[in-house]
Amino acid sequence: MLIAVEGCCHGELDRIYDTLDLIAREHGKKVDLLICCGDFQAVRNVYDLSCMAVPPKYLAINTFYKYYSGEKVAPIPTVFIGGNHEASNHLQELAYGGWVAPNIYYLGNAGVVNFGGLRIAGVSGIYKGCDYLRGHCEVPPFDENTKRSIYHVRQLEIFRLKQISRPVDVFISHDWPLGVTEHGDIETLLYYKPYFKDDLDRGQLGNPATWEVLQKVKPRYWFSAHLHAKFSALVKHDGENGGETRFLALDKCLPHKRFLQILDVAPASENIGDLSFSFDPEWLGILKDTDHLWHFEPTIYYLPGPGSSERHDFTQSDEDCAKMIAALGNLQIDPANFQRVAPSHEAAWGEGTLDQIVRYMEQIGIPTPPVKSYPNPQTTLLCEKVGIRDPLAELTKIAETNADKLKLTSDLSGPGSQVGSDEVRDDTASAQNGEGAETEGEQPLEGAEVQAEAADTAESFENGNHEDEPLAKKMKVGNEEEVVE
Ligand SMILES: [Fe+2]
Repeated sequence: MLIAVEGCCHGELDRIYDTLDLIAREHGKKVDLLICCGDFQAVRNVYDLSCMAVPPKYLAINTFYKYYSGEKVAPIPTVFIGGNHEASNHLQELAYGGWVAPNIYYLGNAGVVNFGGLRIAGVSGIYKGCDYLRGHCEVPPFDENTKRSIYHVRQLEIFRLKQISRPVDVFISHDWPLGVTEHGDIETLLYYKPYFKDDLDRGQLGNPATWEVLQKVKPRYWFSAHLHAKFSALVKHDGENGGETRFLALDKCLPHKRFLQILDVAPASENIGDLSFSFDPEWLGILKDTDHLWHFEPTIYYLPGPGSSERHDFTQSDEDCAKMIAALGNLQIDPANFQRVAPSHEAAWGEGTLDQIVRYMEQIGIPTPPVKSYPNPQTTLLCEKVGIRDPLAELTKIAETNADKLKLTSDLSGPGSQVGSDEVRDDTASAQNGEGAETEGEQPLEGAEVQAEAADTAESFENGNHEDEPLAKKMKVGNEEEVVE
């Protein structure tokens, strides 16, 4: 199966699909599946845009909304995870994954799906130690803290991923698993990215939680993005038949960047099936058996482990998987389940930054949609079938109860009373988590030159970093623009 892997997408679907079309026409490589490793920016309208954590000048509507509205249809089945620049209110509606547009599937906070026999797992977000042990507690409207903490990886997703016991072909994460750099060409990486050294020396260049997942799940391939560098590594696992994980990180979709790679990946499963997405019974069984472990408060909590009196091993037996298949009836993820639950932006309202578009919409009398996460029928349906809770519904209930309490306290205290704290938590960036460093590097793609690479797969993984490789493909789109890293 021919797959295309994209680093950070940044809402540039038009350019990515155009590039893949060019590769198909000129090289005869028609890919079966596009995998995007985060910062996808599934922005449906201006208020989705306002939920994204980037500096105002980079809050551009970009091209996803055309695929959401139906103006365009994704020409290649596409699967993605979330990064740290997302319309988090939108992704929150699909905590267990779902269609964000026809032919474009989101894996959820964490998830596993099958595509033509290829078993694909992934986790959204980036690691931030201060939020890792907290519950999922964020609901719109987000403040400057929650707009960021919502995309920080939580222990629940990692705990669930570590329960996977069947082989995984491909794993996707936005930030790199911590320590993966030791299995590739660090020197060349540091030559191109010298400012990674401090984090590397401190052992902070990457996500310690996903490194544990890599060692437990041992996927054949692991793809990442976030640090805006192409880097490959070969992680050999210990033990008999330990196997190996081929790691590849790619850059963002910008001129002169190595943001795309074509790989020929044969599914390990003999059950190839057709090229469509289907649910994974083992994963859904894990979700069901760990549903009681959700924590919807911002407080730190602990999950059960060895030595605990609570169940901590949620390994799914073949019988468990068979029961899940029976409960679902059909494993196919029905494309017809996609629904537009939020209003879509329209091209006639402009394609600039958030401020520009809102100003123009006000001028022409178009009401702006509310800042909210919409209950999503895809999540509702899956939750009903599997027998789990919709986390957004739970969060919404809690938020409404808290709002009632706040109102009551305010009424009792009289005018001028204040409950809670509006203090903004310091979420200062470091190179390893990419916040700050990354947003500075995000430039609009207007008039940019797009490059794509179709490198030899095996050679790529074995030789380590390829920053100095010649590009196989070059496509000129308008005038070239200087890119600031
Ligand atoms: Fe990122």
